[in-house]
Amino acid sequence: MSEKENKNKTIIITGGASGIGQATTALLLERGYRVAIFDLEGDALQATRKQYAGNGDVFFAAVDVTNETLVGDMVADVDDNFGELTGLANCAGIAADKHVFDTSPELFRKILDINVVGTFIVGKEAARRMKGRGGSIVNIASISGLRGSKGRSAYGASKGAIVTLTQVMAVDLAEHGLRVNAVAPGPIDTPMVEAVHTQSDRDLYHRYVPMNRYGKPDEIASVIAFLLDDSQSGYVTGEIIAVDGGYRGAGLINRK
Ligand code: NAI
Repeated sequence: MSEKENKNKTIIITGGASGIGQATTALLLERGYRVAIFDLEGDALQATRKQYAGNGDVFFAAVDVTNETLVGDMVADVDDNFGELTGLANCAGIAADKHVFDTSPELFRKILDINVVGTFIVGKEAARRMKGRGGSIVNIASISGLRGSKGRSAYGASKGAIVTLTQVMAVDLAEHGLRVNAVAPGPIDTPMVEAVHTQSDRDLYHRYVPMNRYGKPDEIASVIAFLLDDSQSGYVTGEIIAVDGGYRGAGLINRK
């Protein structure tokens, strides 16, 4: 789609103020879309407000994705007053790397609540609005939801749930003209990874990722944009696309 054709398209990006969501916001704006950023109030959202001050193609909402009422109100506000909703990228999420013995039920519940229930709530509200008109939802799973990696009992379980949620929503919503897919990133250099990955994690990923490097947020954003664009991916739904430098497909790796 050309920049001009995308002018009438409005996408909500949760977690749009940091990392993968931030890169997706920048790419979609570059391609002519209107973008509604849903993120927690804080430094990242403040900085993003400043960055796009005066840009009428950006809408800001301080929203916790687990707050069903607020999400419902803000999705309606975007669709009614900013631009008819055509897509959603569910990029909000949190992570932890803790051995199963060190993972409390509170932490487990919190990660499931934000990563899974939050994705479900925003997806459902957006789908209600786009129903019958057409639209695309992109969720963010992870290679940690496809393979068992150390320390990922809560995070990995949440991302495994995103895989199934994506497939079920794709089935339920196909008759309403909506597509639902997920991207499963490998290690991507973002503020989340800076906070969670130790040097030893970084060394391990370099060993196990055939491309021998971390990915960049832009490299996820471009795949999200592909999945949001009906002209590019109009017959793709219920799919989980790993963007991981070859991690998932790898067997023996010749690494010195
Ligand atoms: P990030 O920490 O840079 O960005 C996440 C954003 O989500 C932040 O702006 C944060 O404020 C927002 N957020 C967190 N909880 C929220 C809530 N309750 N309501 C609204 N917003 C909330 O992280 P990153 O790396 O960009 O992650 C984005 C997504 O990609 C997450 O779902 C993460 O699990 C997933 N992912 C990231 C990978 C990586 O290596 N960076 C690998 C695989 C998946």
